[in-house]
Amino acid sequence: MKRGKSKVDPAPPSTLFLFGAHGDLVKRLLMPAVYNLARDGLLDDNLHIVGVDHNQVGDAEFAQRLHDFILEQARAKNPDTAGNAIDPAVWGKLAERISYLTGDFTDDETYQAIGRKIQETGTGNAVFYLATSPRFFREVSRRLGRAGLLYERPEAYRRVVVEKPFGHDLPSAEALNRDLLQDMSEAQIYRIDHYLGKETVQNIMTSRFSNGIFEAFWNNHYIDHVQITAAETVGVETRGSFYDSTGALRDMVPNHLFQLLAMVAMEPPAAFGADAVRGEKAKVIASIRPWSKEEARANSVRAQYANNGKLASYREEPKVEPDSRTETYVALKVMVDNWRWVGVPFYLRTGKRLGVRDTEIAICFKPAPYAQFRDTEVDRLKPNYLTIQIQPNEGMYFDLQAKRPGQALVMEDVKLGFAYKDYFQMAPSTGYETLIYDCLTGDQTLFQRADNIENGWRVVQPFLDAWAEGGEVHEYPAGSEGPDAADQLLARDGRKWQPLG
Ligand code: BG6
Repeated sequence: MKRGKSKVDPAPPSTLFLFGAHGDLVKRLLMPAVYNLARDGLLDDNLHIVGVDHNQVGDAEFAQRLHDFILEQARAKNPDTAGNAIDPAVWGKLAERISYLTGDFTDDETYQAIGRKIQETGTGNAVFYLATSPRFFREVSRRLGRAGLLYERPEAYRRVVVEKPFGHDLPSAEALNRDLLQDMSEAQIYRIDHYLGKETVQNIMTSRFSNGIFEAFWNNHYIDHVQITAAETVGVETRGSFYDSTGALRDMVPNHLFQLLAMVAMEPPAAFGADAVRGEKAKVIASIRPWSKEEARANSVRAQYANNGKLASYREEPKVEPDSRTETYVALKVMVDNWRWVGVPFYLRTGKRLGVRDTEIAICFKPAPYAQFRDTEVDRLKPNYLTIQIQPNEGMYFDLQAKRPGQALVMEDVKLGFAYKDYFQMAPSTGYETLIYDCLTGDQTLFQRADNIENGWRVVQPFLDAWAEGGEVHEYPAGSEGPDAADQLLARDGRKWQPLG
């Protein structure tokens, strides 16, 4: 993130090791992001990229595969513009600095070879990006440490990027933090949450704290409740076995949805630096009321998508147990117990195979204090919402009501808002550009601190514990708005979800 600067300099020379180089993340998101950074002139000519994985591949072949994959993806998106997806001059320069190291993550020899590679590139600085299965996070960091590769000098930083999932419950997240912190300091750990790489997510904080008008009503005097939604149309795709042992709650809530909640609910940081911003976010998550198991059960709904005649049910997906009880949808109510938010429920929902893709935050305001126009249609005024649309159709808008012109007093819903596409030209990006750039330049603002992750799991743990004891897993037809039980969760409080989309 370009805090306080209007122009961004290229990141300093470094060697970026991509563990899990043959995985999906590297080819779909990380390498396209590195390419975009190179295209935008944000990488030093001495930025080296080294893929690390167990397969045998030559340097040139590895680079070529990445190139072809980026093109293939671009073609799948839009065959007419795919020709412009890669600038041969930019790629040519980047490819010269891409290499590959065959190695087993559990073999010390791999780490000796990494050490030699750093000598060869001569950058001193190194980033170790763990784009691997989580079972390797500890293993790799321990071996990096043992090989002396995490030892920093003033002219040589050493940073480790840890992908999600960071733990699968509170004890495992605490244990992982403990283990990582044995090999390196907190300042060397970059725990990724790719939601924080999204422009629209960063803009929540920027808009809140740079437009004084918001502060006037951003509290429990004026806000009735907040809805945070991450609806996806995709099913579990090829990730059946990962997803079946994970579920929607673990996959999306303690990380992505809590990051959105923190952006909406945090206090203004004293500065736009990593410590201040992360400190404020951590306070919000730490203020979420810990539910008892009974309360967690009552304040949550979980469900699975069912066959709708056209789309398969979750249980019919490849590598999913035919009698699985893993949720593909979750809706929760949480309360943030601090001065600003006490009494304002935050309702969260996320699911796969829903009718539309829609990630948004809807802030529902309290109604006008007095029903001015008794016995007219205005007496049944709807609440006003401010919707922060994260994706797709990025933007922000207020729902207002206005009098339809004419003799009768009839109200119409109108919108006041802005769409990103009307103001900004956004170059194609994967969302990882900012995060990779920030890691290369040592800015941890958009990465999760240990306490933030643990506090997130602390909130989620009672739901996990309550569900482990049984209870209903509801169903919803694939392609629908979700289960009826999620509507009842809000109806009980006299509220309604905003329609998806
Ligand atoms: C990932 C989850 O972290 O986020 C996926 O593991 C999910 O299951 C994805 O699909 C959603 O990300 P986005 O950027 O598409 O909203």
